[in-house]
Amino acid sequence: MHDLKTVLTSLRVPVVAAPMFLLSQPETVIACCQAGVIGSMPALNLRTSEALDEALTAISAGIPAGAPYAINLIVHPSNPRLKADIAIVAKHRVPIVITSLGAVAEVVDAVHAYGGLVWHDVTTRRHAEKAVAAGVDGIVAVAAGAGGHGGQLSPFALVSEIRQFFDGTLLLGGAINHGRDLLAAQVMGADLAYMGTRFINTQESAAGDDYKAMVSASSASDVAYTDQVSGIPGNFLIPSLRAAGVEPRQWGGKPVDLGKELSVPEGGAKAWKSLWSAGQGVGSISDCPSVAELVERLEQEYQAARESIG
Ligand SMILES: Cc1cc2nc3c(=O)[nH]c(=O)nc-3n(C[C@H](O)[C@H](O)[C@H](O)COP(=O)(O)O)c2cc1C
Repeated sequence: MHDLKTVLTSLRVPVVAAPMFLLSQPETVIACCQAGVIGSMPALNLRTSEALDEALTAISAGIPAGAPYAINLIVHPSNPRLKADIAIVAKHRVPIVITSLGAVAEVVDAVHAYGGLVWHDVTTRRHAEKAVAAGVDGIVAVAAGAGGHGGQLSPFALVSEIRQFFDGTLLLGGAINHGRDLLAAQVMGADLAYMGTRFINTQESAAGDDYKAMVSASSASDVAYTDQVSGIPGNFLIPSLRAAGVEPRQWGGKPVDLGKELSVPEGGAKAWKSLWSAGQGVGSISDCPSVAELVERLEQEYQAARESIG
């Protein structure tokens, strides 16, 4: 089984390019692994389990031998593909499975059976405790301000509470963009940084040019936290809500009441195509490098930060 030490020694910087609905594609995973970070992708970004099977074959062929990568599985009764996708993940011996929503022993056992690792993402201590009880190898602490379904807790509070009862692999997500942020996450007690929003603006992400331009132009105050796009609270770019005819009614970190104006006719998953998610870290993103350029820069910044504190 890959352990944390093996995983870390194969990386240039302690970074997971986090799974992003619609945006992380097989090419993104390959580019990340080639650049020396952990690439990941939600299984549901492939339209069928068969397409996932083909994508995993392409990923294995495209990445350096033994490079760790991760597939994100939504463990929830609303995901009818879960069983089939687990079988495909096992067939390809995917090194890391990141579970969202449910942490269940059956999934952990299935991944451990072929020697893979399971990391589970959480926004609260209670969910971290449940995941540890289910036997996961790692916890992804998704703090306030993270893109997607971000949490509401300070990263300091979340990491230190989880570290009180868990000494396994701990990842931290939420507005981590710069090499010094990676060091800060490690100093706080995390092993790896979990970076989503920064990777929206890379050449290899599947976000359109308009989306990337909005990320570049936005700052933290352009991000609204609302449960009205997907039913679970998440962070979305206010200019994209306005472009869809929605005027958020409250500001300043509180859940936003979108009222009846949320009028994306398709709703649900399709809403993510026009209501764009991003985290509060958008304010420090103003370019769209290749993944290789970004990782190179992160490595330089990380080393400089280490040297600056002696
Ligand atoms: C556009 C977008 C889509 C996302 N989709 C998913 C997803 O499908 N599954 C998941 O576990 N997390 C998803 N996330 C959350 C990320 O995996 C990660 O937790 C988060 O981006 C980290 O915070 P940051 O964006 O501030 O770096 C998404 C995030 C964004 C920005």
